[in-house]
Amino acid sequence: MLIDTYGRTATDLRVSLTDRCNLRCTYCMPEEGLSWLAKPDLLTDDEILRLIRIAVTDLGVTEVRFTGGEPLLRPGLVALVERCAALRPRPRMSLTTNGIGLARTAQALADAGLDRVNVSLDTLRPDVFHTLTRRKRHQDVLDGLAAARAAGLTPVKVNTVLMPGFNDDEAPDLLAWAVGNGYELRFIEQMPLDAQHGWKRDGMITAEDILASLRTRFELTPEGGTERGSAPAERWRVDGGPARVGVIASVTRPFCAACDRTRLTADGQVRTCLFAREESDLRGALRSGATDEEMAALWRRAMWGKKAGSGLDDPEFLQPQRPMSAIGG
Ligand code: GTP
Ligand code: 5AD
Ligand code: SF4
Repeated sequence: MLIDTYGRTATDLRVSLTDRCNLRCTYCMPEEGLSWLAKPDLLTDDEILRLIRIAVTDLGVTEVRFTGGEPLLRPGLVALVERCAALRPRPRMSLTTNGIGLARTAQALADAGLDRVNVSLDTLRPDVFHTLTRRKRHQDVLDGLAAARAAGLTPVKVNTVLMPGFNDDEAPDLLAWAVGNGYELRFIEQMPLDAQHGWKRDGMITAEDILASLRTRFELTPEGGTERGSAPAERWRVDGGPARVGVIASVTRPFCAACDRTRLTADGQVRTCLFAREESDLRGALRSGATDEEMAALWRRAMWGKKAGSGLDDPEFLQPQRPMSAIGG
């Protein structure tokens, strides 16, 4: 088991497969991109699979999420999913993607054993999409979403970050669209994880703002009971119907006390938290011949050092060195 000194158990592993991306979302990275990891520094497919196997068979991980950068840019993704599905116990598998190229690969991913996908989409307006992502790929994302739904990669969740002056007037339209198309929409508060270090607390749209905007058009009833568990999203029922909307309020309503996550970067470092300032080098151990038991022990030790929270409210808060695109969200 991966337990920490605050009594939390990590059962959800997020694996970043690449730090590269084919979009350039303004809240994530600069126009020119970043200095990407070199190929030899990336874990190979065999190395990734070995680490996932150790996590699943020795460390109690039950959920594996593939992330990036943009994980569909990793050539071996379908094969990796297939090999992962053959592990026993079989982990549940999901993918967080920007949706570019998903129309082409959704069925193959589903056939390989992927359970579901989360797709990022911040706007329904192609021109705003172009401004926010600096790429003209809006239709590709819509096609990717439809293909994921058709392939049964459900529930298909849509992740939206609202940016003041760009798309902050779109929340109700996005929700009407998502409900009509059978997608589960979640709004994410912008976090200080951008490569440019431009985040400002008073420049972000809060959960409260989002809910107020949605309530101008919809009746929202809080999802009762303990259903949220360790999920970052708080959910509301829309107009009393089966549809739900979520808000991931990492900044104004942190959920760290229930966190069940452990993370692996594309270059083989364990991160205990999105905001962690330290990492543990599994790749070095792996490449110098460590046994499965030694790797598992390193991973346990790393997670034992997990901090209570993100530290976002500390006056001395410092952004992690790695930007979001190299952590995997
Ligand atoms: P599911 O609801 O199970 O599909 O997962 P998810 O919402 O955690 O996954 P997704 O990859 O879609 O992430 C949505 C947003 O939640 C992203 O902005 C992530 O960075 C954020 N997120 C995921 N895990 C954590 C976490 O442990 N802490 C914080 N603060 N944010 C997280
Ligand atoms: N804050 C909040 N969410 C972010 N994402 C990327 N950068 C940030 C940030 N700084 C979102 C993406 C994607 C999800 C994985 O995280 O838009 O939907
Ligand atoms: Fe946008 Fe995600 Fe790519 Fe960052 S990693 S540029 S948030 S799609």
